[in-house]
Amino acid sequence: MKILGSFPKTRLRRMRKSRWIRNLISENNISNNDLVLPIFVREGKNKIDQIKNMPGVSRYSVDRLPSILNQVKKYRIPMVALFPYTPEIKKDQLGSEALNENNLICKSIKFIKNNFPEIGIMCDVALDPYTLHGHDGIVIKNEIDNDETIKVLIKQALLQAKMGCDVIAPSDMMDGRIKAIRQALDKNNFKNVCILSYAIKYASNFYGPFRDAVGSSSKLKNDKKTYQMDFRNSSEAYREVGLDIKEGADMVMVKPGMIYLDVINNIKNNFKVPVLAYQVSGEYSLIKNGIEKKILKEDSIIESIISFKRAGACAIVTYFAIDVAKIIKSAN
Ligand code: PBG
Repeated sequence: MKILGSFPKTRLRRMRKSRWIRNLISENNISNNDLVLPIFVREGKNKIDQIKNMPGVSRYSVDRLPSILNQVKKYRIPMVALFPYTPEIKKDQLGSEALNENNLICKSIKFIKNNFPEIGIMCDVALDPYTLHGHDGIVIKNEIDNDETIKVLIKQALLQAKMGCDVIAPSDMMDGRIKAIRQALDKNNFKNVCILSYAIKYASNFYGPFRDAVGSSSKLKNDKKTYQMDFRNSSEAYREVGLDIKEGADMVMVKPGMIYLDVINNIKNNFKVPVLAYQVSGEYSLIKNGIEKKILKEDSIIESIISFKRAGACAIVTYFAIDVAKIIKSAN
């Protein structure tokens, strides 16, 4: 890289002298348009319960969704990502509840489309909220069977599209599922339903609080290393992205986010495709706990979110979405 300027003629501190000049030359900014809020839904009526280890994040029964969606609407957050907390009795080995037309996700999509039509909806395609073993796919002879799982994922994606989901987000990491889901969507007249592939999903230790939130952690046998990516790798990540784009993904997700900024940056530079980052539950909880214990300042939230923009993400899925939108609004 060519070095521009030299001291003493060049003094970079000149452009840090006051708030207005720092604002003037800032290279990256965050807007409400860059945010996606994950929402956990639960069964029952008039229920809102706080999630263990995720201070400030709750699960909502469908009738109480307006308490959070009114804020999403007020702050013009473009999209929400829905995740269900499925009662144990509805789980089985095959995750059959994923295909129930009356499951929590279907009810939530319909409710949101009827009452908040301006909000985009993204849904996970994976079986872990519905299986007794907590894995994202079908287990056959102690293995997560790729091709048998895809057959179910296609049905899950079609059901979500039929209910009105705008963005189908396969987060299961099976090979070839984007192609299969795109073909099925097209064949069933869902040509305009988008696919956001969790192309790069690492087998991460930072999903802990989420697994408690959807009730899959106590059940999870072993880990997800036979399908989620090894965190020592990045070349493999770009192969994943290349394949998923070829198969028909409209956008790709990198997950977790903060500890994989290098991967986000490389995708941004090498593939001309929208890349989103997921600031996952463990990343959220670390920052949130730090703020609550007064170890960190609240501004840490914006610093963490800007890091994704600097790396090249077009949007960030974050449990801080409403906090961030409020901070942006109060700064204007
Ligand atoms: C499930 C899924 C996970 C997350 C989103 N979808 C967890 C997992 O793969 O075990 C994690 C999100 C978070 O930690 O915030 N396929």
